[in-house]
Amino acid sequence: MRTSGRDRRDRARPPAPVGHAFDDDDFGPEGPRDSLTDVPGGVRLQKVLAAAGVGSRRHCEELIGEGRVEVDGEVVRRYGARVDPEHQVIRVDGRRIPSSEKLVYVALNKPAGVLTSMSDSRGRKTIADLLPGDGERLFHVGRLDYDTEGLMLLTNDGELAHRLAHPRYGVLKTYLADVPGPLPRDLGRRLMSGVELDDGPAAADKFRVVERAGNRALVEITLHEGRKHIVRRMLAAVGHPVSRLVRTQVGPVSLGSLRPGATRKLTTREIGDLYAAVGL
Ligand code: URA
Repeated sequence: MRTSGRDRRDRARPPAPVGHAFDDDDFGPEGPRDSLTDVPGGVRLQKVLAAAGVGSRRHCEELIGEGRVEVDGEVVRRYGARVDPEHQVIRVDGRRIPSSEKLVYVALNKPAGVLTSMSDSRGRKTIADLLPGDGERLFHVGRLDYDTEGLMLLTNDGELAHRLAHPRYGVLKTYLADVPGPLPRDLGRRLMSGVELDDGPAAADKFRVVERAGNRALVEITLHEGRKHIVRRMLAAVGHPVSRLVRTQVGPVSLGSLRPGATRKLTTREIGDLYAAVGL
């Protein structure tokens, strides 16, 4: 069972390892308070936090002093603790931070008419054409149809990408769909209780009508599964074939005002929330 930072702080201090001479950096405001073994040649904890976008060095030192930083499950209150940002799991207030500078996390607003692939033998435009620099080394998290627009996550963090795409973790994805109206009153109930598709039933987790405009309507549908063409097939099955589909949310990350074809780096908080969504 995991213990909280406060529990650990209240425990008796571990004795300093024999032969370990503390230097000034080993002390937070209240002296050495953890038993973390410094990694030889490691990077100072506050430097790793600041590089990961947690805040200024000064702010990161305050977080460490307040006992809000954990390394491999151990609260560390020394400003100078040396850690391995590539392999150790570092959390602030329980939220994991992207400590490895090698890892990249990107959101893309995929336009319609772009293939979710890093190359195409038929010469069609792919998402690789929209990614800056080393895009070919990123994994795309799941797929959007050629004609579907909206949020795609890309990363070279293989474990996170794998979990986000795996149905077992049930990460919610939200879509806006343009469909023909009028909409029957029980449409949401039918979609949420499950519709029969060729490859088995599919149910929406949430559904709402965003707008009714003449003989068209805009609906928002949230699902935790990712079978091919799932939203289009579900809405066609209830008599409302989709003419335009945009993904607006993946787990804790929103498309927001990202322009079609544009990318942005995810924030430190978004990355921490993605880790949390898949139990990392
Ligand atoms: N559902 C679809 O029908 N298409 C997509 O691209 C994504 C979900």
